[in-house]
Amino acid sequence: MTAVAEQNTVNGIPAPEGSVTITVKIQRFNPEIDDAPHWESYEVPALPTDRVLNLLFNIKNYVDGTLSFRRSCAHGICGSDAMQINGINRLACKVLVKDLLAKDGKETTVTVAPIKGLPTLKDLYVDMEPFFEAYRAVKPYLITYGNEPTRERIQSAADRERFDDTTKCILCAACTSSCPVYWNDGSYFGPAAIVNAHRFIFDSRDEGSEERLDILNDAEGVWRCRTTFNCTDACPRGIQVTKAIQEVKRALLFKRV
Ligand code: SF4
Ligand code: FES
Repeated sequence: MTAVAEQNTVNGIPAPEGSVTITVKIQRFNPEIDDAPHWESYEVPALPTDRVLNLLFNIKNYVDGTLSFRRSCAHGICGSDAMQINGINRLACKVLVKDLLAKDGKETTVTVAPIKGLPTLKDLYVDMEPFFEAYRAVKPYLITYGNEPTRERIQSAADRERFDDTTKCILCAACTSSCPVYWNDGSYFGPAAIVNAHRFIFDSRDEGSEERLDILNDAEGVWRCRTTFNCTDACPRGIQVTKAIQEVKRALLFKRV
């Protein structure tokens, strides 16, 4: 008979060689039994190269299957898993454990909470509908009137460059949910909607810039931005969000795109 080596575990979670035990403190909320959110802590094994998403999966799979969070691609592309990690909006699939723990090994707690400004439905899972409502309101698609082309719409490299940065948005909501104006008044369109309007306003092939600028000239539009740069700091795609908002403001002021 072959002897089966006993596997080390922490809290029932397999602990691979080289892992350390850390505490993951998660804001939990189950609307069916809780009046308000509360914190729960979990001891888990973690490798320096683990991502926060790995820790959440281990807690869900081995400790508490009711833990709720969104995720899909696990590679920073789908934008599903924005959450507050150690108080900062980030994608759980992009944050490595080694970048969260103090180098002296003394700080071994990671906190995870839902992004702010959107209603929490359960645990780390928020209602994204107000976010997508603002996104849809700015008409984030190419608008043209007549003159159907017989071939692709040609654009120079310089014209394409004009809106290159804002094409990178993955609609994760990290920017909008880090904005103090959005927290205080959810009727503000928010940075992500403006980024996606920018992507088309400055596209030389588009003919809908005026309608989008009219929409963003609204009381809840770009003028609500207080240039705090939280959005730019939060963006996992490195988009210059505040700069994009400033460019939209300038286009409104000078009637020029
Ligand atoms: S601009 Fe950046 S932070 Fe905002 S939704 Fe897009 S990818 Fe996310
Ligand atoms: S799971 Fe897709 S971006 Fe993180």
